[in-house]
Amino acid sequence: MTDKLDFMREELQALQDEKRFINIRTMDSAADGWMVVDGRRVLNFCTNNYLGLANHPALKDAAKRAIDEWGVGPAAVRTIAGTQALHIAFERRMAEFKGVEASMLVQSGFCANQAAIAPLVGRDRATGMQDVIFSDRLNHASIIDGARLSGAKIVVFEHRDAEDLERQIVENLPKYRRGLMITDGVFSMDGDVAPLDKLYAVAERYGVMTMVDDAHGEGVLGRGKGIVHHFGLQGQFDVEIGTLSKAFGVMGGVIAGKQVVIDYIRQKARPNLFSSAITPADTAACIASVDYIEAHPELVDRLWENAEYFKAGIQRLGIDTGVTETPIVPVMLGDVKLAKAFSAKLFEYGVFAMALGFPTVPEGKARIRVMNTAAHTREDLDLGLATFEKVARELGVI
Ligand SMILES: Cc1ncc(COP(=O)(O)O)c(C=O)c1O
Repeated sequence: MTDKLDFMREELQALQDEKRFINIRTMDSAADGWMVVDGRRVLNFCTNNYLGLANHPALKDAAKRAIDEWGVGPAAVRTIAGTQALHIAFERRMAEFKGVEASMLVQSGFCANQAAIAPLVGRDRATGMQDVIFSDRLNHASIIDGARLSGAKIVVFEHRDAEDLERQIVENLPKYRRGLMITDGVFSMDGDVAPLDKLYAVAERYGVMTMVDDAHGEGVLGRGKGIVHHFGLQGQFDVEIGTLSKAFGVMGGVIAGKQVVIDYIRQKARPNLFSSAITPADTAACIASVDYIEAHPELVDRLWENAEYFKAGIQRLGIDTGVTETPIVPVMLGDVKLAKAFSAKLFEYGVFAMALGFPTVPEGKARIRVMNTAAHTREDLDLGLATFEKVARELGVI
C-alpha cells in the first residue's frame, strides 16, 4: 500500500526537478533599506516597504503604547467582543485619509478581498439567478480567490482595456442579476496602472458596481493618497480595497467606500464574523502610519525620485524595464534560468532582488523585480546600479 502522503513527496520532488521549488529565505533583521538575509547584510530591493515605515520609530512607539494600554490580542471576532475603540479610531482616520464616507479594518489585504466580494455578488437564493463579476485579466490572486468564493460568474476583460470591459458588459450583464467590476489599481508584476477613469465611466454607464484594489497605489500615487485620488475620483468608487502591509508598513486590510456599502459588508463579511480582530499593536501602528504619511509628503517625493533614478540607470545599461509607471521596476531578462542566476549573483555581491518567472509572470517574461523605496539613499541606488551592471556583464546580458 502506498503512503497517503506520497502525492506531496512526489509534487515536492517535481518542483525541485523543474526548478520551480521556492527557496524561502530567512530575514534576520527588520524590513528596511538594508537587511540581514540568511545571515548576510544586503541592500534590499524586495520588500513593499515603499515609504520606509516598516521599522519607523513613530510606528513602533505607537504599537508599544497600545500593547501597554490594550494588551496583545482582542480575544474575539469584531462582531462579538473584538471591536475596540482603537479599531473605530482607525476606521474613521482611514476614511478621512481616503476621502470616503466609511472604512472597515480587516486582518489583511488578502482577507479584504475575501471579505468584500462575496457579500456584493453571488447567487439569488430564491431564484438561483447568478451575478456577474467583470475582472481584469491580470488581477491579483486575492481578487481571483474572492471572486471564486462568491459563486458569481467571472467574466475576464482584457488587461487595462475599457473598450473590452464595455463589450463584456453589453454581452453578459443582461443574463445576470447584477454586476461588479473589479480591477487592481497598480499591477504588481509590471508596475502599470489601471485606466481607472475610463473603467469607472463604463461601469457606471451600465449600473455596474465598481471596486478597485489599491494595494500598490496607496502611499505611492495621488500624493500618497492612492489611485482614486490620482484620477480625482475620491468617494465615487463603491469599494476601495487597501492593505496596511505595503506603504503603510504594518499589517491589515481595509475596505473603504460609501457608508451603505461598509455598513452592509460589516454585517455580511465572513472574515468579520468568523475571524478575530486585528491586534491593538497593529491597529495603533496603522493609525500612526496614516498620520505620518499625511504629515510627511516628502517621503512620497523621495520614493518617486529614487524610482526614476533607478529606472533611468537600468535603462542606460540598455536593459528593458517593461511598461512600469510606478516605483516597481521590472528588469526584464526573459529566460527564467537567466533571471534566477542573475538574482543569485546579485545576492552573492550583496544585493537582494528577487527573480520572478512563470507562472507568476507569463512564460518568456522572467525578470528581476526591483521594489524601490524611500528608505534608500542615493549611495544605495548607485551601489545597486553598479552591482546590476557588474552582473549583467558577467552573464552576458549587456
Ligand atoms: C493587489 C493586491 N491585493 C492584495 C494583496 C494582499 O495584501 P496583504 O499582504 O495585506 O494580504 C496584495 C499583496 O501582495 C496585492 O498586491
